[in-house]
Amino acid sequence: MTIGLIVGREYSFPPAFLDRVNAIGRPHGITAEFVKLGGTKLDEPARYKVIVDRLSHEVEYYRGYLKHAALNGTYVINNPFWWTADDKFFNYTVMARLGLAIPKTVLLPQKGYPADVDILPESLRNLEYPVDWDALLDYVGRPAILKPFSGGGWKHVYKVHNREELLAAYDGTAPYCMTLQEFIDFDRYVRCFTFGKTDIVPVRYDPRARQYIIDHQYLDDELGARVVRDAQTINQALGYEMNTIEFAIKDGVPYAIDFLNPAPDFERDRITAHYFDMVVEKMANLVIDRALNGSPANPWPRWEEMTGLGRSSGFVGQPAR
Ligand SMILES: Nc1ncnc2c1ncn2[C@@H]1O[C@H](COP(=O)(O)OP(=O)(O)O)[C@@H](O)[C@H]1O
Ligand SMILES: [Mg+2]
Repeated sequence: MTIGLIVGREYSFPPAFLDRVNAIGRPHGITAEFVKLGGTKLDEPARYKVIVDRLSHEVEYYRGYLKHAALNGTYVINNPFWWTADDKFFNYTVMARLGLAIPKTVLLPQKGYPADVDILPESLRNLEYPVDWDALLDYVGRPAILKPFSGGGWKHVYKVHNREELLAAYDGTAPYCMTLQEFIDFDRYVRCFTFGKTDIVPVRYDPRARQYIIDHQYLDDELGARVVRDAQTINQALGYEMNTIEFAIKDGVPYAIDFLNPAPDFERDRITAHYFDMVVEKMANLVIDRALNGSPANPWPRWEEMTGLGRSSGFVGQPAR
């Protein structure tokens, strides 16, 4: 059985991960390599038992290939169909329904559209104008965070204190769809590595310095248990198996801030040597387990069942697991 890795220009994780999978996979007849692609034929069988995907959000060809591979029996981490469908506003909505602490959030009409899309004023007949910015700010409170509804890497994330600052920031956000969110004035911040849906490792994180910090006493037992439980709920609902989930903690309440990080940062320099070694070990064990025991249906999201929508509306859910 072969395990494939799709990555960009990361330098520390790929060789360490492939070496580790090759070392512990050998007794099981499992080897690991970089996925190689040079045009994909419709009737091509799956070459890989498991693929770890860390780049298909940037390379459409890879995403298209991965959906094809999943249909042919490859277990893809993360599920390419769900990753394509997901966005942060939907995630906030699901998790609020499932009882997590979520900052008040508004989905905003876009400021503008891609240059090659013909949007004339009459194309936008569904949009109310003008937007009542003061009412939206009253709802989320001041200051507030303006950020993309599907984005990453801190791009286009702004803290605004009033309507003027909000509009100044918003004017530069085309063509992205944005959210306006309650600012959580946190006293602690954690980022959780997640391996599979339920193995959760919360780590102290300094979002200003963008630095992981080794501090095993950062959360007391009760808060640590809640963070782990909430992160498990997120991954079970959304189907992610390789993710980082961020919580801003204020007055002992962990607010889920960002949980759409399906290609999480695994660079040794940024996550510390301690967590790097842990990530390599846990990722290697995860893919070997999935190669031996996984079925491609496993990583599907379960938000329909968990929110009750699957039962109450007759909406057809995924096969039972
Ligand atoms: N509602 C919020 N309250 C306080 N800080 C926030 C909030 N939303 C985002 N941030 C800060 O901005 C950073 C980037 O926002 P995030 O939602 O994580 O977007 P990205 O996907 O770009 O990482 C977070 O790590 C956090 O420090
Ligand atoms: Mg983030």
